[in-house]
Parts: sequence; structure tokens; C-alpha cells
Amino acid sequence: MKITRLSLLSTIIACALLLCASSSALAQTGSQTDMTGYWKFSSPTSGLDYLQLKQTGEAVSTAGRRPLTGTLLAGKLHLASGTDANATTYDAVVKGDKFPATRVTHDGPWGGTDVGTLERVTDQEVHPARLPLPDLRDLPDNGLVRTPPMGWNSWNKFHDRFDDATVRGMADAMVSSGMAKAGYTYIIVDEGWSSGRDANGKITGNARFPDMKALADYVHSKGLKIGIYSSPGPQVCGGYQGSYGHEEEDAQAFADWGYDYLKYDWCSAGGIYQSTWADLEGAYQKMGEALEKTRRPIVYSLCEYGAGDVWKWGAKSGGNLWRTTGDISDNWQSMQRIGFAQLDIVNNAQAGHWNDPDMLEVGNGGMTADEYRTHFSLWAMLRAPLIAGNDLRTMTDETTSILTNPEIIAIDQDLEAKPVQLLSQEGTSEVLVRPLSGSAVAIGLFNRGDKPAEISFRWDSLHLGQGLGFGGMRGPTVRDLWKHEDIPTTGDTFTATVPPHGVVMIQTTSGRRR
Ligand code: GLA
Repeated sequence: MKITRLSLLSTIIACALLLCASSSALAQTGSQTDMTGYWKFSSPTSGLDYLQLKQTGEAVSTAGRRPLTGTLLAGKLHLASGTDANATTYDAVVKGDKFPATRVTHDGPWGGTDVGTLERVTDQEVHPARLPLPDLRDLPDNGLVRTPPMGWNSWNKFHDRFDDATVRGMADAMVSSGMAKAGYTYIIVDEGWSSGRDANGKITGNARFPDMKALADYVHSKGLKIGIYSSPGPQVCGGYQGSYGHEEEDAQAFADWGYDYLKYDWCSAGGIYQSTWADLEGAYQKMGEALEKTRRPIVYSLCEYGAGDVWKWGAKSGGNLWRTTGDISDNWQSMQRIGFAQLDIVNNAQAGHWNDPDMLEVGNGGMTADEYRTHFSLWAMLRAPLIAGNDLRTMTDETTSILTNPEIIAIDQDLEAKPVQLLSQEGTSEVLVRPLSGSAVAIGLFNRGDKPAEISFRWDSLHLGQGLGFGGMRGPTVRDLWKHEDIPTTGDTFTATVPPHGVVMIQTTSGRRR
């Protein structure tokens, strides 16, 4: 009996403990759970990621283009953007409104594991109120980049996975590879350098970029110029700090550190402003004015993917160049689709104000040497900025020879800056013509097809007129700009066999600079 009472008592105590434990578990779950609301993932190795979570029972999900779905089970949060090998996942043990979390992204060579913090934030932090934009006006020409800028940018090769040492290495290689001598000048640090703001609101570099001024000094010591990257929105595309509401302070910081070029990327500004001409121009003018106020010569590169026909107003907002398209990828389809689509707007560029069909992929490995020669030739014919996007420290001789071809670069940099014209198109063969200074003419025979093609044009179709060495007064040779040799011309027609996805670039000898 005694024993029975004892066991009854212990049963009661055990039950009470169990009840207590489970109710405290419930309470704990209750306090952790409703994860519904806005959360910020931050880590020293990446930019910010804002998540709008919705919890129903154990199920947790986000909205958006690539939604995350998952569970909160026994305090453990697991979210994934799918079940495939490219899924992004978040894992955390949920504890209150701020706790350690791990994000794993699979994004080709740019993926990785970021260990950081998930923290509940207000709607206001995610959607800051709209600040007024200036009245639209024409900013004065800053007089820079009379020929299309030439340089290197980190994005195509590294995305945001690079650091100060990578940039210094690129400056060294730009000089040692002969690229600097060939005309490349700007080393541009794209997304991934910024962290946040200090107590005084000054934008700061992150752990990978501890001293942005020292980096600029280093690049300058190599005889080169340096570029930096920000956004009219609160964050740049990958979540690092942007310039929203701090335009003047940031322009001044960039100037004080010694930067010579700013790429200003729309990104999260789309959550604040409309994608209308007026808002786009206003937001870009705001930074244009801020740059002007610093009195430092800073090349202003607009990056809003061509929205609102930027080529019609980019110069007014102080822009020296403006992206005309979405992002290029390192493959033939992407490059040729972007490149040939530019022919419609070539008349909108002028000295100091260039159309930018995005940076070069030459040397990144996704195209053949013929395709890269087409890429480089087409960009030169378009008078596009020549901003290399490969690893200059490890490039092959073939890549170097493409990027430093002086005769193709001379076409891009020709001082007359006359636009390219489409002379003829037949199936997948296109002949492009560009008048150059000194009455010379560059002609590109492009084969967009998958098989070798014979491409021809009649000399008289060029309407070259008198004194040009052609058109009734045809000279004996033209110059092949990839073979670097003079080739004889016979008859009324010029014909070349052009490899698949390849190009033959020639230039009339009259006025040619050697
Ligand atoms: C956009 C731009 C790219 C690059 C990335 C960085 O996609 O178009 O050139 O700057 O942002 O996130």
C-alpha cells in the first residue's frame, strides 16, 4: 500500500513535471513561433537578405521570385528554395527575434556557405519611405571619357566573392599583361565591398575591404584609376549597403577615398521609386549632382538595364555611360543577342556619353576563341566600353591577344566616334560598317550561324566616294585586323570565309593608323 501510494505520488510528480515541461515547451514554441513578418539575414561574408516569412502551423514560407518553403519543427527552422541542386537553404535554431543562422547558396562558382544572423526587422526597414527627387535639369558635361572607357570589373568572374587582395592582384596583372599599355585604365570594384554605415552614417567597407582608401592609393600607384559601385536604393542587388538617402555623403566618401568612377546600379531602388522615366532620371540626377558637388572628376556609369530608354536622357543626369540591356552571361546566345540588338540605338551615343551593352566575358571560358573574337569585335564596332570581366592574373596568351588587339581597340577608341551601320544581312550573316577618322572604314563580316559561311559585300555598296582608295579608286589591299596583315583585293566584291560564330574584321588602308 505504502509502495502503491509512493508510486502514485511519483506518478503524479512525474506527470506534473511532464506537463510543466511540455507546457514550457509550448510556451517556448509560442514565443519563438509566429515567425510571420520581416527578417534580415546578415553575415560578414555576404550582403543582406530580407525575407518576408509567413508561418501556418509548422509550415514556413516566403513569397517572391524564388520562394523558400520549409518548417519550424522543435525550434529548428529549415527553409529551401526547392529540392534541386541549385536550392538555397537556411537553417537555424530559432531563439527569440535574433539568432545565428546558416545560409547555403548554390550559384555556380559563386555559391557558398554564409554563417550569420537572422533578425526580426520592421516593415519600415524593408520598405523605407520615399524621399523627394530633384527637379529634372540638364547637368553639365563633366568632360570625361571622350572615348569609351576601358578597364576591368570584378562582377563577371567573381560576383561578390572577392577581396582587396584580388583587386590589387588585378591591378598588378593589368600592368604586367600589357593591358594597361593597350589602353585599359579603370579597375572597378563591383558589388561586395560595402558593409553598412558607421555611427556617423559614413558608408564603410566590409571585412574583405578593410580600407577603401588604401586600395585606391594602391591602384593609383600602378598608374591606373579605380571605380566603385553603389545603388540609388538602400541596398545593391545582392544586399550590400546602397546610397539611398545618403547620396551626397557617399559621393563625398568616394571622392575623399580617391575613386575615379562610380557604377550606380538600380537594384532595390525599384522598391522605392517607380520605373518611370521621371523617377529613373531623378534618382540618377540626384547622384549626378552629388558627384558634381565633390568637384572630383568621377566617371558616372548608370546601370538600370536600359529602363525608360536611358540612352535618351542618361547624359542629362550626368551619365558618361549607361547600360542598355540586362546582364550578359558567358555564352554565345547571351552575348550575340545583346550585341546585335544594339544596332537600333547606336545614334544615341556620343563622345563622353556611351551606350554600354555590359561588360566583356572574354576569357571566362564559356565561349570559343572565335566567339570571343566576335564579342570583342562587335563591342568595338559599337563603340562600347571595353571592361574586361575575366581573371587577368591567370589568362591565357590567346585571351591576352584578344583583349589587347591594338587594331580592334583602335576602332573602339576612334576619335571620330561615328556610329556603326548595318550594311547587309542575309540569314545569319551580317556585314557592319563603321566610318573612322582619316576617311578609313572598318568592316566586320559576322557569321552568327553554326556552319562556316562565305560572306561578301560589293565595294560600291559602301559609297565610299572619292579619295578613299575604294569605290572606283580601289586600292590594292585592305588590312585584316585579326591576322594583322594586309590582304590583296581583286574585283568589285570582297568575300571571306567566316568560321561559325566568327568574324572577319577588315579596314580600308586609307587613313589607317598602324
Ligand atoms: C546587376 C548588374 C551587374 C552587377 C550585379 C551585382 O545585375 O547589372 O552588372 O553589378 O547587379 O549584383
